[in-house]
Amino acid sequence: LDSFDVIVVGSGFFGLTVAEQAASRLGARVLVLERRGHLGGNAYSEREPTTGIEVHAYGAHLFHTSNTRVWEYANRFTTFTGYQHRVYTVVGGRVFPMPINLGTICAYFGRHMRPDEARALVAEQAREVERAEAANLEQKAISLIGRPLYEAFVRGYTHKQWQTDPTELAAEIITRLPVRYTFDNRYFNDTYEGLPTDGYTTWLRRMADHPRIELRLNTDYFDLRPAVPESTPVVYTGPLDRYFDYCEGELGWRTLDFEQEVLETGDFQGAPVINYGDADVPWTRIHEFRHFHPERDYPTDRTVIMREYSRCAGRDDEPYYPVNTPCDRSILERYRKRAAQERNVFFGGRLGTYQYLDMHMAIASALTFVDNQLEPHLRDRGAAA
Ligand code: FAD
Ligand code: NA
Repeated sequence: LDSFDVIVVGSGFFGLTVAEQAASRLGARVLVLERRGHLGGNAYSEREPTTGIEVHAYGAHLFHTSNTRVWEYANRFTTFTGYQHRVYTVVGGRVFPMPINLGTICAYFGRHMRPDEARALVAEQAREVERAEAANLEQKAISLIGRPLYEAFVRGYTHKQWQTDPTELAAEIITRLPVRYTFDNRYFNDTYEGLPTDGYTTWLRRMADHPRIELRLNTDYFDLRPAVPESTPVVYTGPLDRYFDYCEGELGWRTLDFEQEVLETGDFQGAPVINYGDADVPWTRIHEFRHFHPERDYPTDRTVIMREYSRCAGRDDEPYYPVNTPCDRSILERYRKRAAQERNVFFGGRLGTYQYLDMHMAIASALTFVDNQLEPHLRDRGAAA
């Protein structure tokens, strides 16, 4: 372990971006430790063996960004298809485009409305609850979009996501419920969007493929920690509370369970992602991976689907989304103070900062971290040596 200039814990987009930049731009010798048997963190994907269909192992991953530096950086390792994400939702045996837009509203109320009519109707229905007086998530949602749209498109889905009735969830969980008064149902409105042409794993492998980067899979940092020289900087992207042995308490996360199935049909649902808004359907959504790559030569008689279920994470579950209650935030404050006192350890990424980060955000924050912290740190150490 003495022969490395930096140790990076975790090979997700944050860790790999740091490793790649440290090796290629700063000339550092980098060791990347990854607990799992594969690289890439939650963006990892693999081909389902019997169909060859690329499956995003930790749920659908859509790449989109308006950050030109991130887009150009990503394009050094992969090209992108022209994929544009669109989502539909099934409620009460009917199907509607999401996020809520003019098409959703017209279909739901069963008549043609112009943007101004729809706006007036929603405003009228939202008047039922005064926004400032909303005492829980349900009231807040009604104050934003009115009861009919709330009951159809928010209540059941939110209940399943949190496994809690929305009347028992904090109003602060939602600050906005954007409604679009156009027929545009493109999910993201970023400048750049697409899926990596040869898949996520090819992209991630190319980032790690540098003579000064060594990647060790199936290796937990905490097993090696006693052997890490005190002078070697560590960039830690694992869970923040775990690093400090949970001494300030556990940070709350939601996790997802996935149920994958190969079906003997060429097309199960006609779209990559369909949400299920009814409370009595146990899954929140179903992904059908063939639709992410219509340009590929996939078999026409079989398909791969993945049902997604949401629940609170225990210590042994994969942490996916921060719950972020007031209690979590005060625990986080205490861990941040401890983290700031660690001289030679830097905390980054989704788990290391207890913050949901999309891929482009993880890459952007890693690039900034290398510029503003790692490069000066290595330079000072070099000067001191
Ligand atoms: P991660 O990808 O979580 O990587 C952290 C890595 O650290 C993991 O591989 C973990 O095994 C490793 N690690 C942890 N502890 C240790 C240890 N002690 N020793 C060694 N290794 C350790 N982003 C998008 O842009 N679009 C999407 O559509 C999208 N969908 C998502 C869906 C889900 C369900 C989730 C959870 C995330 C989604 N993301 C999406 C975000 C994306 O997956 C990553 O979370 C993001 O790129 C942040 O990367 P990261 O490197 O910070 O964390
Ligand atoms: Na996603």
